Amino acid sequence: MSTPEDQFKNVISHAKEYGYIFQSSEIYDGLSAVYDYGQNGAELKKNIRDYWWRSMVQMHENIVGIDAAIFMHPTTWKASGHVDAFNDPLIDNKDSKKRYRADVLIEDHVKKIEEKIKKEVEKAAKRFEGFDEAMFRSTNARVLEYQAKADEIEARFKTALENNDLAEVKQIIVDLEIVCPISGSRNWTDVRQFNLMFSTSMGAVTDESNIIYLRPETAQGIFVNYLNVQKSGRMKIPFGIAQTGKAFRNEIVARQFIFRMREFEQMEMQFFVKPGTEMEWYETWKTRRMAWHKALGIDEKKYKFKDHIKVAHYANAAADIEFEFPFGFKELEGIHSRTDFDLRQHEQFSGKKLQYFDQDYTGPLNSELAKTQTPEDWKDNHSYVPYVVETSVGLDRLFLAILSTSLQEEKLEDGETRTLLSLPPQLAPIKVAIFPLMGKDGMPEKAMEIFNLLRFDHNVTYEEKDNIGKRYRRQDAIGTPYCITVDQQSLEDNTVTIRDRDTMKQERVSIDKIAAIVDEKVNMKYLLKKTS
Ligand code: GAP
Repeated sequence: MSTPEDQFKNVISHAKEYGYIFQSSEIYDGLSAVYDYGQNGAELKKNIRDYWWRSMVQMHENIVGIDAAIFMHPTTWKASGHVDAFNDPLIDNKDSKKRYRADVLIEDHVKKIEEKIKKEVEKAAKRFEGFDEAMFRSTNARVLEYQAKADEIEARFKTALENNDLAEVKQIIVDLEIVCPISGSRNWTDVRQFNLMFSTSMGAVTDESNIIYLRPETAQGIFVNYLNVQKSGRMKIPFGIAQTGKAFRNEIVARQFIFRMREFEQMEMQFFVKPGTEMEWYETWKTRRMAWHKALGIDEKKYKFKDHIKVAHYANAAADIEFEFPFGFKELEGIHSRTDFDLRQHEQFSGKKLQYFDQDYTGPLNSELAKTQTPEDWKDNHSYVPYVVETSVGLDRLFLAILSTSLQEEKLEDGETRTLLSLPPQLAPIKVAIFPLMGKDGMPEKAMEIFNLLRFDHNVTYEEKDNIGKRYRRQDAIGTPYCITVDQQSLEDNTVTIRDRDTMKQERVSIDKIAAIVDEKVNMKYLLKKTS
């Protein structure tokens, strides 16, 4: 049995071998935490993006999509809070000269305590029949002691962060006797805040006034265009604006392949709603987004919600959809109820109104005024700054989730193993591979006829190198749902064999039927139907 680490290494080498992902600038020894998508990776990524875009924009009459610029006016990032608060607390080990995120060191320590609890539970579960885990956790002295320790650390760390008390964050690391994994020493520097935004300068002069940022999230491009879209599209609340695109973060602990990168792609949707209805929409979007993921047919146990106990200052509710990656359950998508924070901030910093008029609404203009005004103050007010429910998923993370669960080593009846990439067929980079059994006797010409028939609807490939068994294996490893083989009989009766990637079953069918067979399996509309 291979370990999860081995399995993950296997995913990374498979991704390279079959043209999915390459290290960026590899010939120059690569650039850390930056990756390129190869010929199959670019297709898979495009298909995942299409699945998201079509399910958001095409399937909802009240959601439209935009494509905002990566560069934005620098004040955008002051208004959003990123200039002042988009920081990670960092600490260096003086012996190894390695830099760590202080929060990650502390979280990893807490995780180790949780692992101990898990082991106690597993041991007890083996010992007692009809084991009641909840009862055990709430009564076993050792578990209670571990749990209290973990809770105490988390509470102390939370308070330190809330007070921006970096000396206390360091003290926690010292008190917990956390050692550097490289040097094994406890020789730590002070903790400092480090802003994650990349900056550059616009124009010929390089001074403070020309500094602009590479966007760290796509969401702000939506907020600043809220009124443009609402007015030009005559949108009525509730409505959404969707966007996909690159985002950049100078991640310090960038690791786990494409899970955490410095240049990555987000797929975000901001849903603008009437104040007071946001919790209902938040729940609706949580349900819809989970259903969207599960429609892909991946084992449902690999997904779970994680509600945030502590939400960001701008939110009144937040949850992650977590996925079980080869290195454990981690955030895949965030769903946030962001109140009217962002639009209010942009109103304040730009001096422009970002409000919505609704004759049927009578209430405060925004959440800040609601704190001090009384109903008497707003009896004639019919405008409001909309509240926003956001769904935000990392395209690269979703790519990794799909790729890593799809890669399997399958034992066959004849004792051999085959490498199978069981991608959801609608997302597969190549839908059909077409092979002439031999490169002669008119078979290649017949195979090309089929290639020309299918290429208008699907990404298909033609291959005549190697024996047929090897060609099938190669397409299994790429994840191609169908292989079609043209043989001697094809020339006589216009039939071919069509082989299913997952069952490896071959069927002889008339060439006229191929388009319909392929369409039923790979057309994205069947995936979209499952989510609507
Ligand atoms: N607009 C909200 C926002 O940006 P976030 O939780 O910081 O929220 C949303 O990011 C999603 O973007 C995450 O759930 C994750 O899938 C993806 N993401 C964030 N940072 C990433 C990184 N460094 N590399 C790859 N994906 C990342």
